[in-house]
Amino acid sequence: MEVNTIGQSLAKKQKEEIADKIKLFTIENDNGTKLVASNYGAAVVSLFVKDKSGNLSDIVLGYPQITDYVTDDFYVGTVVGRYANRIADSKVLINERPFHLSVNGEGYHQHGGFEGFNKKLFSAEPFKKDKESGIVFTYISPHLEEGYPGELTLEVKYTLTDNDQWKIDYKATTTQDTLINLTQHAYFNLSGDLSKRVDEHDLKINSEYYLPVNKFQLPTGELASVDNTPFDFRQFKTIGKDIEKKDEQLSISKGYDHSFVLKDQTSGELKLAAIVTDKITGRKMEVYTTEPAVHFYSGNFLHNVNGKDGVKYNERSGFCLETQHYPDAPNHHHFPSTVLKAGKIFNSQTIFSFSTE
Ligand code: BGC
Repeated sequence: MEVNTIGQSLAKKQKEEIADKIKLFTIENDNGTKLVASNYGAAVVSLFVKDKSGNLSDIVLGYPQITDYVTDDFYVGTVVGRYANRIADSKVLINERPFHLSVNGEGYHQHGGFEGFNKKLFSAEPFKKDKESGIVFTYISPHLEEGYPGELTLEVKYTLTDNDQWKIDYKATTTQDTLINLTQHAYFNLSGDLSKRVDEHDLKINSEYYLPVNKFQLPTGELASVDNTPFDFRQFKTIGKDIEKKDEQLSISKGYDHSFVLKDQTSGELKLAAIVTDKITGRKMEVYTTEPAVHFYSGNFLHNVNGKDGVKYNERSGFCLETQHYPDAPNHHHFPSTVLKAGKIFNSQTIFSFSTE
């Protein structure tokens, strides 16, 4: 048997074994806005939002079958952790003690390892209140899972409000000091036509500095001014406007795949991070977060991916605005700390707020 065929039959077996355990949860408000989430990876598999004429369309990328998330390589719609983004050499010191994390990148650790939270079955508890409803997903990550110390109890709460906000509340506790940096990895396409590219979406990011990367896409440690660079999104501009410009940083990551330091975000209060609009459908998404950075990823590595409704996803079929701490923070002492101490509670909130104009 060829290596590839072995891989495929393993994946098939894995999918069959887990199929009965994967469940979908639908939350809908009176406007017709509807979010469908899976207990596998806490993945948001669909998000139906109205355009300016009142037509509902699905504005997030997703797979045709719920078991396809088992073999996903792109973190489509999932929660990423324990540490979203990259950690150099897969090594960290916590309280001066070295920990070796799984090496699932080229020497580096990425998105929580081989089986990060995106590959975990969460327990799920739906809830309904007066003006909002949602689901609380829970997962207990064992001590030393993917190399991280401490048993981590994670709660991710998705709420859909009557005013079309998708709220994400993360809460975590640990039995030993550990690292945490969580994000939601939805790929948005506000056009509602997932076969279209997102180049024409207008984007504004509340950021004056971004984090340049080396050839492995690890931060160099510098906070570079966006002034006079393709990374200047202080005023609205289309995602496609500067993306093809000759620029070392853009060529390393084949487009935008960079963390932006959020202005005024020092206290962990909920602040506006970014706004995206699609002129044609009038859909507008505002992103609010308590996190100090947003990682803007323009879907550069999507290629020939089998998506929902027979659509193939390619580069820039969707974009991610991943709210989080800075990448590789444990190895850069001037970056905000990502250590979660035993006995403390980790809290983080991000809101994706939808409207039309
Ligand atoms: C990373 C990309 C990566 C993508 C899918 C993003 O968050 O920054 O480099 O290709 O996730 O794995």
